[in-house]
Amino acid sequence: MTTLAIVSQKGGSGKTTLAVHVAAAAAAAGKVAVIIDTDPQATAAAWGDWRGGAEPEVITSPPTRLAKTLEGVRELGAEVVVIDTPPHADAAAREAVKAADLVLIPTRPRAFDLHAIQATADLVRYAGKPAFVVLNAGSARGVQLLAEARELVGELGLAVCPVALSDRAAFAHATAAGKVAGETDPQGKA
Ligand SMILES: Nc1ncnc2c1ncn2[C@@H]1O[C@H](COP(=O)(O)OP(=O)(O)O)[C@@H](O)[C@H]1O
Ligand SMILES: [Mg+2]
Repeated sequence: MTTLAIVSQKGGSGKTTLAVHVAAAAAAAGKVAVIIDTDPQATAAAWGDWRGGAEPEVITSPPTRLAKTLEGVRELGAEVVVIDTPPHADAAAREAVKAADLVLIPTRPRAFDLHAIQATADLVRYAGKPAFVVLNAGSARGVQLLAEARELVGELGLAVCPVALSDRAAFAHATAAGKVAGETDPQGKA
């Protein structure tokens, strides 16, 4: 079982968007994929409801129960688990990072947002977990901004995921319909 934690202290950075897209991609690739939603706002769980039971399965878990929840999904045969986390929640982020094989840190490629990933960077470093920053929702034409963002992330001692997600309406439209961009618009850039 491979466990990914999606962590970023900033709200609106794209945690839930990334979580559902990664988990849906794993399911589409034939893996038994599960999303564990530890955010009290339960956005990923709502997406699962809108999806009407199609894979990946979404379950909710309070952060303090995460280890137990992971044990349960492992016994049920989960192969890829994606943990979605709330913003501004040190304890929840810490539990998710502790449980993860890999941490993904989505952030918008803007100075204020990049500044805010410092706390997450520290958390990941103390835990000694492999991690990638995923630059999300930058302008598709903002090449200069992306290059600057990559440099800033490097200065924080973090690796940047080679794949960046641009600002595409298809991400928002698809998730609002309980789907992912690759399902609603298979040929689209998102
Ligand atoms: N790459 C993107 N392109 C367009 N809209 C996006 C993108 N990533 C996120 N969004 C939108 O931004 C908002 C916040 O994203 P969300 O994934 O809920 O962030 P978080 O879970 O970190 O709070 C949502 O309305 C989502 O649809
Ligand atoms: Mg969210």
